[in-house]
Amino acid sequence: MELTIRPGRLSDIDAEARLNRDVGWCFDERHTLAEYHDDAYEPSSVIVAEQDGEIVGKLELFIGWKSNHGRFGLIRRFVIAPGKRGQGVGKQMLDAALAHATEQACAFVELSVDVTNPFAHALYAREGFVEDRVEVLMRRPLGTYAVSSEYPREAP
Ligand SMILES: CC(C)(COP(=O)(O)OP(=O)(O)OC[C@H]1O[C@@H](n2cnc3c(N)ncnc32)[C@H](O)[C@@H]1OP(=O)(O)O)[C@@H](O)C(=O)NCCC(=O)NCCS
Repeated sequence: MELTIRPGRLSDIDAEARLNRDVGWCFDERHTLAEYHDDAYEPSSVIVAEQDGEIVGKLELFIGWKSNHGRFGLIRRFVIAPGKRGQGVGKQMLDAALAHATEQACAFVELSVDVTNPFAHALYAREGFVEDRVEVLMRRPLGTYAVSSEYPREAP
């Protein structure tokens, strides 16, 4: 099956929002994603993987600037469709993002990964990402509202 890695298009946003919802991420609404395909963001900040006409993966790649390092890439909300994981699609998407950031003269690419997400962590390490610093997200429930962001520890 042919896999194409390409910039996201406005017509992809429903599929992108679906992928975000699969992992329970917020900001999954059409209009939020549409902004990343807006003229102001051209070329698109979203990279998608398309297989047989279906969007099977997406990541958001933003180019930023830090006064002490210069240009850098930031990867956010990287997700592969549940039935397509563990088949190398994610690696190809990461390679495409790294190539794009290199073309854009970025000094590095950064992302954050949950320590409860061993598949993603291992993939990033194989792709040359090294730990820079470890932060802990602390959350104080108000009232009875409780939410956990843990990833499954075993392959489905
Ligand atoms: C993390 C993620 C984006 C990686 O994409 P992917 O297409 O599964 O990645 P790849 O197939 O290129 O590599 C995954 C590695 O884990 C292994 N793996 C085995 N079973 C797996 C599974 N069920 N899910 C994921 N990876 C699995 C793969 O074999 C591969 O190892 P290898 O390179 O030694 O062969 C994808 O698993 C995903 O969408 N996870 C849920 C969302 C998420 O965690 N996003 C990252 C947030 S930081």
